[in-house]
Amino acid sequence: MVAARITVNGKAEPISPAAPHTTVLDFLRDRGFTGSKEGCAEGECGACSIMVARPGVDQPTDWVAVNACLVPVAALDGQEIVTAEGLGTMDASGTPTELHPVQQEMAVRGGSQCGYCTPGFVCSMASEYYRPGRCPSKQEPAEAEAHDHEHGPNGFDLHSLSGNLCRCTGYRPIRDAAYALGQPSTDDPLAQRREQPAPAPVATEYTQDDRTFRRPDTLAEAVQLLRERPDAVLVAGSTDWGVEVNIRARRADYVIGIDRLPELRELKVASDHIEIGAAVPLTEIERRLDGSVPLLAQLFPQFASRLIRNNATFGGNLGTGSPIGDSPPALLALGASVVLSSADGDREIELADYFTGYRQSVRRPDELIRSVRIPLPLAPVTAFHKIAKRRFDDISSVAVAFALDIEDGIVRSARIGLGGVAATPIRARDTEAALVGKPWSAEIVEAAALVLSSEGTPMSDHRASSEYRSAMLGRSLEKLYAETTEAVLS
Ligand code: FES
Ligand code: FES
Repeated sequence: MVAARITVNGKAEPISPAAPHTTVLDFLRDRGFTGSKEGCAEGECGACSIMVARPGVDQPTDWVAVNACLVPVAALDGQEIVTAEGLGTMDASGTPTELHPVQQEMAVRGGSQCGYCTPGFVCSMASEYYRPGRCPSKQEPAEAEAHDHEHGPNGFDLHSLSGNLCRCTGYRPIRDAAYALGQPSTDDPLAQRREQPAPAPVATEYTQDDRTFRRPDTLAEAVQLLRERPDAVLVAGSTDWGVEVNIRARRADYVIGIDRLPELRELKVASDHIEIGAAVPLTEIERRLDGSVPLLAQLFPQFASRLIRNNATFGGNLGTGSPIGDSPPALLALGASVVLSSADGDREIELADYFTGYRQSVRRPDELIRSVRIPLPLAPVTAFHKIAKRRFDDISSVAVAFALDIEDGIVRSARIGLGGVAATPIRARDTEAALVGKPWSAEIVEAAALVLSSEGTPMSDHRASSEYRSAMLGRSLEKLYAETTEAVLS
């Protein structure tokens, strides 16, 4: 096996002697790439943002911005990254000669004061700068993206910066810099790089001090490894692993990277279901589904930030079993099931039967989540309501997802998924029963909202009181009624 290495700004760097739990951020800073900063070390501030070359959705390679503080450097064996130092140009001695366009715009429009957040902003901004859907050199910006409160006249999507926090400049100059960006020139090396294939995944076995990071080639190999090492920690997007390592000082003896397994990277639309591989990053799902599952289209912008969604997966969000994960309520409302793989084969479990207790599920230690299946047809009336203190990049106090079939003013079917009101994500079965077969009327909704307010056993904590959580459940149904009545009756 070739020694593990990573290409940083065009130059190969051996990963050894970094410990297997070393994050990309710590690795970079140890090697002198101190542009990437540590702010929070848990994926909330974006000061550590870098760009990774990934197989593209619409072109051979996409430059994808990720949080370097969350990803094990061993997971990027054989991969290619660009840091803030790799933007712009340098002479042979390494002296910067020209700023990159995003650096230039940030500088001239006052987008940086203390500068701590700036390298992270610059990398997130550069990733959006190179997004093909934004680039008239490949395709004119979509009409809908032309200019609204979240897109610039140049097609720049402000959500690309939703995972970057700045404490002193203020966001208007940063937005001005983003909206002033033109298109990459034809001789821009990073724009040219998009035309070549991204690095292929590399089978990795990286061991230091009796701890190992392992990347198998195939699903068969992965489930066999898991049978031999049921204590192994599985990582795909690593958005949870990074927090465990940085904040809780967890050091797993054996980590298996499953994010590039081809079997977990498929997204297929069949006549009666959609199957989404457990390791497809949420941004990729969002782009490939392109709004065809409206409930997920509502969920994605509210799921953490673009930086997190560039790595996070449904498999990880279900695998951690958090009662406040954002995707379980939506997937419960969609009636999804989970496909589990082991050395014995696959089995399919209704998501409603998957969770068994706080961060516990029916998944055995020798199983991994292979995919999520969403049955078709989809319910016509759907909504995802996340109640949190911030609109983006926050953890929910309560999340409610609705999927209703309303025909001739009568509720024919209802599935309602809840997060943040019990030890696990749950279906609001009593509320569903209070709606099905009844008219979609203000009276029925008012009565059902009372039932919804009493679902689960919400607790009080620093995010919200139990009373507030219960009240928000009821309000959520009333909000749905207000939002949909006109459309349903017309
Ligand atoms: Fe804050 Fe990585 S250091 S997101
Ligand atoms: Fe100081 Fe952004 S410029 S934190």
